Amino acid sequence: MNAPKIRYHEPAPTENDAQALRRVIAGRRSVRKFTSRPIPPEVLDDCIDLALLAPNSSNLQPWAFYKVQSPAKKRELVDICLGQNAAASAAELIVVVARTDTWREHARLNLERFPTQPLPKLVQQYYQLVVPLAYTQGPLSSLGLLRKRISRLSSRLRPVPQGPCSHEEMRLWACKSTALAAENLMLALRAHGFDSCPMEGYDERRLARLLDLDADAMSIMVIGAGERAPDGVYYPQLRFERERFVFSV
Ligand SMILES: Cc1cc2nc3c(=O)[nH]c(=O)nc-3n(C[C@H](O)[C@H](O)[C@H](O)COP(=O)(O)O)c2cc1C
Repeated sequence: MNAPKIRYHEPAPTENDAQALRRVIAGRRSVRKFTSRPIPPEVLDDCIDLALLAPNSSNLQPWAFYKVQSPAKKRELVDICLGQNAAASAAELIVVVARTDTWREHARLNLERFPTQPLPKLVQQYYQLVVPLAYTQGPLSSLGLLRKRISRLSSRLRPVPQGPCSHEEMRLWACKSTALAAENLMLALRAHGFDSCPMEGYDERRLARLLDLDADAMSIMVIGAGERAPDGVYYPQLRFERERFVFSV
């Protein structure tokens, strides 16, 4: 396929930051005990801003971050997190939410705020035609299921995207991008000298009630954050041999 003609140029950054990145990635651990030192608000906001730079499907940014800071709500959230120490001792608790109900509005914002003008025709077509065609599911996923049938048949002839073809698959779609943002957030905290613990050990139903989340907003993890206590990491990091996971085909 011929690449479309694009006039914009953004050269690749020339600095080599691999060592700094390695320190941040390898230094991140799941911390279960934090000190009482607060995270300065501007640091937390910078980390969230870096989370928002994560790559995401069709630039539709299907995420939300809830900083749970009211003392009453925080207490309740610790309880919802089953009283885990990583939550109870955290200076900050951030709930990371994947949303399936914002893509239409975000498609419109992509059109309105596209950074190069005049709006490239391909971009216009993408957000006005391709995106609605790909993500509209219809009542009881009826449109999605119809699309699934058509794309299965078409796939015999040529490569065709096979989803998302239901409301459930939209949740997975939103979770993929949102999980990348969550990782950005945790790495950014480490880069600022703070630490984190991602948690899925919580009562999702109660958390939805606490944050008034409807069915289109799914909490994917609660991130406890703060300064690592000297005994905040319980075990050395364990990963299995790379041959188990990495394949050349
Ligand atoms: C989706 C997800 C859910 C997790 N849930 C919990 C949790 O509820 N409580 C907890 O203490 N750690 C939780 N963890 C942390 C993992 O236990 C931890 O990442 C893993 O043991 C590897 O350790 P490391 O993060 O220090 O490398 C979770 C991690 C992920 C990615």
